[in-house]
Amino acid sequence: MKKMYVLLSVIFLLSPIWGQKKNLLTDEKIEKRISALMQTMTLEEKIGQLNQIPADNGATGPTGPKILSGGNKKMLSSGLCGSMLNLFGAQPTREAQEIAVNGSRLHIPLLFGYDVIHGYKTIFPIPLAEAASWDVDLIEKNARIAAKEASSAGIHWTFAPMVDVARDARWGRVMEGAGEDPYLGSLIAQARVKGFQENLSNASDILACAKHYVAYGAAIGGRDYNGVDISERTLYEVYLPPFKAAADAGVATFMSAFNELNGIPASANAFTIRQILKKNWKFQGFVVSDWNSIGDLIPHGIAENRAAAANAGITAGVDMDMCSFIYIEELAKQVRSGIVKEYLIDDACRRILRMKFKLGLFEDPYKYCSMQRENADIFTPENRAAALDAAHKSIVLLKNEKQTLPITNDKKTIAVIGPLADDKEDMIGNWSAIGEPQSAVSLLEGLRNKISDKSTLIYAKGCNINDQDSSLFKNAVQVASRADFVILALGESKGMTGENCSRADIGLPGMQLELAKVIVKTGKPVIVVFMNGRPLAIPWFASNVPAIVEGWLLGTEAGNALADVLFGSVNPSGKLPVSFPYAIGQVPIYYNFKSTGRPFSPNQAWTTSYLDVPNEALYPFGFGLSYTKFCYGDIQLSSKTLGMHGEIKASIEVKNEGNFDGDEVVQLYIRDVVARISRPVKELKHFKKYILKKENQRLWTLQLLLKI
Ligand code: NOJ
Repeated sequence: MKKMYVLLSVIFLLSPIWGQKKNLLTDEKIEKRISALMQTMTLEEKIGQLNQIPADNGATGPTGPKILSGGNKKMLSSGLCGSMLNLFGAQPTREAQEIAVNGSRLHIPLLFGYDVIHGYKTIFPIPLAEAASWDVDLIEKNARIAAKEASSAGIHWTFAPMVDVARDARWGRVMEGAGEDPYLGSLIAQARVKGFQENLSNASDILACAKHYVAYGAAIGGRDYNGVDISERTLYEVYLPPFKAAADAGVATFMSAFNELNGIPASANAFTIRQILKKNWKFQGFVVSDWNSIGDLIPHGIAENRAAAANAGITAGVDMDMCSFIYIEELAKQVRSGIVKEYLIDDACRRILRMKFKLGLFEDPYKYCSMQRENADIFTPENRAAALDAAHKSIVLLKNEKQTLPITNDKKTIAVIGPLADDKEDMIGNWSAIGEPQSAVSLLEGLRNKISDKSTLIYAKGCNINDQDSSLFKNAVQVASRADFVILALGESKGMTGENCSRADIGLPGMQLELAKVIVKTGKPVIVVFMNGRPLAIPWFASNVPAIVEGWLLGTEAGNALADVLFGSVNPSGKLPVSFPYAIGQVPIYYNFKSTGRPFSPNQAWTTSYLDVPNEALYPFGFGLSYTKFCYGDIQLSSKTLGMHGEIKASIEVKNEGNFDGDEVVQLYIRDVVARISRPVKELKHFKKYILKKENQRLWTLQLLLKI
C-alpha cells in the first residue's frame, strides 16, 4: 500500500464526480429509425447532414444581421445542410426549418447552434468569474436558465461549455473556462453539461458541446491558435479530465480545436477523437469541427489541398464540418473513388441524426420555435435575480487591510474613478450572445442604487482603458481630493479577452496604473475594483492600496453585485480559480506544480527561484478573503495511509470568529510525497462551500471522505 499524506487543513464529503448520466443514446427505437432513414438517403444527403453552414456566410460575424441568403435556402431545400449556426429567434429559425423540412426530399430537420456561453440575453458573469463561486449547483442552475432562454428562441445547441484548462493568463480564452485546475474544471464541466441538457426531450433543454478538444489552452506563448507541445501524461492528467467529465455527464457533442497537438492538428487527430473519445470513452454523440478548422489543415501543413483536408477530418472522426464547406464539396467524390470509406460517412451521419431524434425534432421540428415562449421566457426578473446571485458569489476579495471594506454607509463623499466605473458595454464580457450592454448595470449605477441620502457620489473617468492619454488625470485628482475615499474601477475591456485576444503584457492596459498612482498620491484611501477577463499582474496594487476587489466582468447585474459587496450587504466568498502572478515572466503559473529536485529554500543557494520575483503567485488558486474571519483547527484523519481504492475520513473544525455571517469554501488538497512518477506539490481533491453563521463564534465540525 502506498502512502498518501493528506496535506491541507480541509475537509468534506466525496461524492463521485464521474456520475454517469443515464445513457439515452442507445435507445433501440431511435437506432432503428435512423437505420430506416439512412437506407433511403443518397450519399449526398448523408454528407449534407455533416455540413454546418453559417446563417450569414460568416460575412457579418455572429452578431450581424441574420439573413437567409438564396444560396443558403437552396442548400436547405436540397437536403445538403444538417445544421446552421448563428441563426436565432423563433421566427427566423422557423422559416429556415420550414425550408428544410418542407422543401427537402426526406424532410430532415435542421439543428440550430449558437454560442450561448454565459447566458443568452440575461448575461451571467463570464465563465471564469462564475468558476470563482466554486458553487457547482449555482453553475448548473445558470446553465439551465441560459438553455431555457436560448431554446425559446429556436436554438437547439450551444457551443458550450468551454472546458479547456488554462494555465497561461496571456491566452485570452482563459475567460471562457473554469481556470487552471482539472478537478474543479471537471466538476464545473459536468455541472454546465447537466444544466444545458438535463433531459433532452424537454423543449427547454439544448445540446451542449464540450470544447475545444483538446489541449487548446496550452497554446505556446499563450498566443491563440498556436501549436501545443505537451507530454501524453500532461494531456491525460491536466487537459483531458474536464472533457472526460463532460462525456461522462452525457454531453451530446464535442468540438475539435484549432490547435495542433504534438504535431497533429486536433481536427485531424485520430488518437484523441477516434481512440480516446469514441473508443475508450464510448462517446455516442458527434464531433463538430471548430470554424473552418478542417480548412485550416492546409495552412497547418498536413493537407495539401481541400480534398486531403476533408479526408483527414473524416478519417480522424470529425463528424460535422463547421463552415469550411469542405465535406460537402469533397467527400462524395472521394467515397465514389474509394479513397474514403462510406462507413465513415454513415457513422458520422448516424451520430448527427441520433441527436436530432433525441431532441424530438423528427416528431416536431418546430418545438423550439415558439414566439409565445420567446416573449415569456427571456430576460425575466427571476433570471436577472439569478444573474445577481451569481455575480455576488463570483466576486473575490483579494486584499482588505484594516477592514477598509465594507464601506459604512453614512455621510460620506465617495469618488468613483476609472475607465470602467461608468461602463455598461464591457460588463457583459465577450461571447455575450444577444445580451444588451444598455441593460447592464454599471458600477456607478449600482452604487447610486445602493447609497443612502446622506452619502454623495462624485465621478471622474480618469483615462480610457487602453490608450496613452493622460489629459483626464487632473480632473480625476480634483475629484479624489474632494472625497472621503475613492473607489477606483480599472481593468480590461470585454474585447481584451475571448477568441484571439491574447496579450503579451498582462498588466493593466493603457494609462491605468499611472492613474492609480496619481490618485493614491492624494492620500485618500483607495479601494480598487478590478474588472477583467484574465488574471492580471498587479503587484503595485498589492503593496500600495488597502483594499482590492476582483470584480471580473460580472454580466447584466455587475454594478448592483459590486455595490452589495462594497457596502457589506453581501459578504464576498469567491475563491480564485486561477493564479494571479506577480509578473508576466512567471506564466504559465499554476498551484499544482512539481517540486523539482531543488525545491526553493531561502537559505540555500542553487534552489529553484527567480532573481526578481517569488516563485509563487501573488494571489494563488483557491485564495479569497471574507469580511469575517474563519479559523481552522487541526485536521483529523481516520487513517494516515490511503490505498489505491481506499478512503480516509477527514474532519476539521472551522470557526467563524468574525462579525459577519459568511460562506467558506473548504478545500482539500493532497500530496503524494513518494511515487514512481513525481507528483505535484498540491492537488485539489475535494471542496465544499459551507455557510457559517457568526452566531457566537460557532464551531463547525466538517467531515469528508477522501477516496482515490
Ligand atoms: C470559433 C470558436 O473557437 C468557437 O469557440 C465557437 O464556438 C465557434 N467559432 C462558433 O462561433
